[in-house]
Amino acid sequence: MSSIVEQGYGVGDVISLLWFKRSLPRYCTHFMEICIMLCADHGPCVSGAHNTIVTARAGKDLVSSLVSGLLTIGPRFGGAIDDASRYFKDAYDKGLTPYEFVEGMKKKGIRVPGIGHRIKRGDNRDKRVELLQRFARTHFPSVKYMEYAVLVETYTLSKANNLVLNIDGAIGSLFLDLLAGSRMFTKPEIDEIVGIGYLNGLFVLARSIGLIGHTFDQKRLKQPLYRHPWEDVLYTK
Ligand code: ACO
Ligand code: LMR
Repeated sequence: MSSIVEQGYGVGDVISLLWFKRSLPRYCTHFMEICIMLCADHGPCVSGAHNTIVTARAGKDLVSSLVSGLLTIGPRFGGAIDDASRYFKDAYDKGLTPYEFVEGMKKKGIRVPGIGHRIKRGDNRDKRVELLQRFARTHFPSVKYMEYAVLVETYTLSKANNLVLNIDGAIGSLFLDLLAGSRMFTKPEIDEIVGIGYLNGLFVLARSIGLIGHTFDQKRLKQPLYRHPWEDVLYTK
């Protein structure tokens, strides 16, 4: 680590070495750093932040509050990056049209990972997704997986306005382009990375920054024990 710092490298280079076991070109490390900044926080109302806030307000310590939030990261929230990369890769490599891919997923009863959002819409796109796409179109040698994901989004948006390409889908498809286009990975290595599922790690790492901030906010503001409004959870027949 000391020699990395002495050579002026950044956190993207540290991730390259520790996760991918090699130095990656600057545009790749910059891309990872942008992902981390963009995913660091999305306000106090999302699943992870909510859990962290409730835990901090129950008087628990930093680590407990942090992991409480992290435990919500999964297939619906923040942890759809790996599955998005798996499904987009499989569909693209098989030459499926977006129609065939999306309708095939529907038949299997699987929601397309990386598509859909609670508040983002076709007419209220996610700025984070646009920023990542702009960066990749400028710096990546190829964005074929991302362009495929965009075609999938065009099709899903024709079905419903909430079915946008979300930040997980953008990172999942763009990371495929990073892995394939950088020529730094063999095909079996790409399959291994996608198969094991490295990419949710980016969201976990990033969102930890925000969740730690939410913990400190609650402590600093001396917030009392949280109790949820009844009407929000009352079960009715
Ligand atoms: N693929 C196919 N259909 C979908 C998808 C999807 N990814 N997402 C929603 N729909 C459909 C639903 O089936 C539903 O139709 P139905 O009522 O006829 O069943 C309709 O769209 C409305 O869906 P809701 O359940 O109201 O959407 P909700 O807002 O609850 O879900 C969520 C949002 C969880 C993100 C959902 O879109 C989803 O599961 N997406 C895939 C997982 C994913 O990418 N998660 C990461 C989100 S980004 C982030 O967390 C940082
Ligand atoms: C996030 O980054 O937390 C989200 O995209 C999820 C959300 O509902 O905002």
